[in-house]
Amino acid sequence: MEQLKNAIIERGSVVSDGVLKVDTFLNHQIDTNLMIHIGKEFANRFKESKITKILTIETSGIAPSFMAANDLDVPLVFARKKKSLTMNNDVFTSSVYSFTKQETTEIAVSKNFLQENDQVLIIDDFLANGQAALGLAAIVEQAGATVAGIGIVIEKSFQNGRSLLEEAGYRVESLARIESLKNGKVTFLADKTV
Ligand code: G4P
Ligand code: NA
Ligand code: NA
Repeated sequence: MEQLKNAIIERGSVVSDGVLKVDTFLNHQIDTNLMIHIGKEFANRFKESKITKILTIETSGIAPSFMAANDLDVPLVFARKKKSLTMNNDVFTSSVYSFTKQETTEIAVSKNFLQENDQVLIIDDFLANGQAALGLAAIVEQAGATVAGIGIVIEKSFQNGRSLLEEAGYRVESLARIESLKNGKVTFLADKTV
């Protein structure tokens, strides 16, 4: 997606060989016009998938998911993060380990908002090691619902997230795929569909 790639180049910064900072438009300050285009692109890529619900995770997944849900005319649900989980029978939960932060977070979604006939599109801002997306997929499966696909704003293709998700059988659509962040430079994967 050209507008997103331009934002990454012009307004992102490479923090290290592994980390891209995009708090100018995605993770802190939000470019709402860009988010609208991102949401519409997700909606377009999954328009044949009979999506009934979008599932994302707070905080940074919400903005790029908003317009996708609006365009597909389905509810947007976000998983909540908790430091420690108090026993609660009313929620589906999953543990997500972050290699970046080296900590485990419990994520939870109320049983009221996922039903077994749901066709769920999972959306997140970054795909690194895939643990957040796998945690969301585990919650969808606990509900007996179906993961119809996974939409990612920025994929770090040099990490193993995409292969883990594809091995698990999920369709992954990433709007920007980064091959490398080496030497302070963003290199995108050559990909005709992006
Ligand atoms: P994974 O889910 O793919 O395994 O990723 P990981 O544990 O490494 O990610 C932990 C957090 O760091 C997530 O945000 C993720 O979006 C973010 N992240 C991963 N790589 C990058 C990167 O290169 N740049 C930026 N800016 N963020 C990255 P989070 O903890 O869920 O925070 P929030 O922003 O949603 O509140
Ligand atoms: Na994030
Ligand atoms: Na995230």
